[in-house]
Amino acid sequence: MRMYDIILKKRAALPLTSEEIHFVISGYVNGDIPDYQVSALLMTIVFNGMNKDELGTLTLEMAKSGHMVDLSSIDGVTVDKHSTGGVGDKTTLIIAPLVAACGGKVAKMSGRGLGHTGGTIDKMESIPGLQTEMKQDAFIEQVNRIGLAVIGQSEGLAPADKKLYALRDVTGTVDSIPLIASSVMSKKLASGAQAILLDVKVGSGAFMKTLDDARQLAQAMVDIGKANGRFVKAILTDMDRPLGHAIGNALEIREVIDTLKGNGPEDLTHECLVMAAHMLVLGKICDYDTAFERVQQALDSGAALERLRLMISAQGGNARVLNDDGLLPVGRYTRDVIAQSNGYITHMNTEQCGVASVMLGAGRTVKDGPIDYGAGIVMHKKTGDAVSKADVIATLYAGDESLLDGAEKTYIDAITIDAVAPGVSNTILGIV
Ligand code: URA
Repeated sequence: MRMYDIILKKRAALPLTSEEIHFVISGYVNGDIPDYQVSALLMTIVFNGMNKDELGTLTLEMAKSGHMVDLSSIDGVTVDKHSTGGVGDKTTLIIAPLVAACGGKVAKMSGRGLGHTGGTIDKMESIPGLQTEMKQDAFIEQVNRIGLAVIGQSEGLAPADKKLYALRDVTGTVDSIPLIASSVMSKKLASGAQAILLDVKVGSGAFMKTLDDARQLAQAMVDIGKANGRFVKAILTDMDRPLGHAIGNALEIREVIDTLKGNGPEDLTHECLVMAAHMLVLGKICDYDTAFERVQQALDSGAALERLRLMISAQGGNARVLNDDGLLPVGRYTRDVIAQSNGYITHMNTEQCGVASVMLGAGRTVKDGPIDYGAGIVMHKKTGDAVSKADVIATLYAGDESLLDGAEKTYIDAITIDAVAPGVSNTILGIV
């Protein structure tokens, strides 16, 4: 078998066989097939897609390229969630404690920031002392004891995805439905949870810009999960505006704590309650209406906040941050962003809001580069809000004063202000 022939076959839009897909993935992981040939194949997939059988085979080959985690010694149905990537998306750290407080078992492996999108592991590491690497035995013990653990993906988990993702990132081959579906689901199948809630983001800050594309991606991922015996549901959520008010690691942790104390932004709180309730249903705890009541009660009673406290302590972090947010890093230099005209914010280019946060130091500009945990943006006005010229619409935070000018310009350019108030949709756009 030759890689050259496989590229030509896919270029002609013909389906690949299981043997051919196995040849590509195993050859790429063990270094026999070079990046440039895999890049060419990825580009043909972007243009010609994959059928259901090819996608199923590709996903399993990627999952099995490394260690398949066995979570069977956790009591009860293990539930995981995965977001396709957003701006201001700190939902995991609110949802996991809500679900655990209601008896669910959340065994979650999360990622780091990618491009303009943030990552849960980076956010967690802004809490002093908190560890996100854990041996499998300790991970399982923690989930059995307190109902939740959120850790980074181990080196050996789906290494094919790791290699392919890095290549896609630099070859213009990220936003393809089969490539995203196989990337997400290979990691989810390998991480072992029996039930998976997928949060498929839609809009200017997401990889899927239209509802139609997001629905297709969601369906492809749900089909893969079900074909592999997992309970799966996908929720389509709005990413045409950042979620909540904070973007940036420690700033988002502050918002997580406020939300679990009942003082969070309405969009973020509602989205988290809905997703947590769906996770309880997937985890076979109860029906949706009962689940929604339970998660609301876990929020109101402080039980979910208590689960977050337990998780931070169990993972070596300083849980006093829950009562004293001065223990979290915060950018030393600030800049208020001022509205340039009167009217309403009619649109936020959410990808550019994320880029502005990265420019302040909250994300990486080179692979494995450093992060400034205290950097980011607090948005005081969002889509739909009325603004008067000279109102402060956002505050930027940075550890290096010279970063403020560029980020301010990018943020201002991302915001559209018009005379007519826009309709603002619910953040939950559909369920697959
Ligand atoms: N998240 C992933 O894990 N993979 C993708 O390809 C896109 C988002």
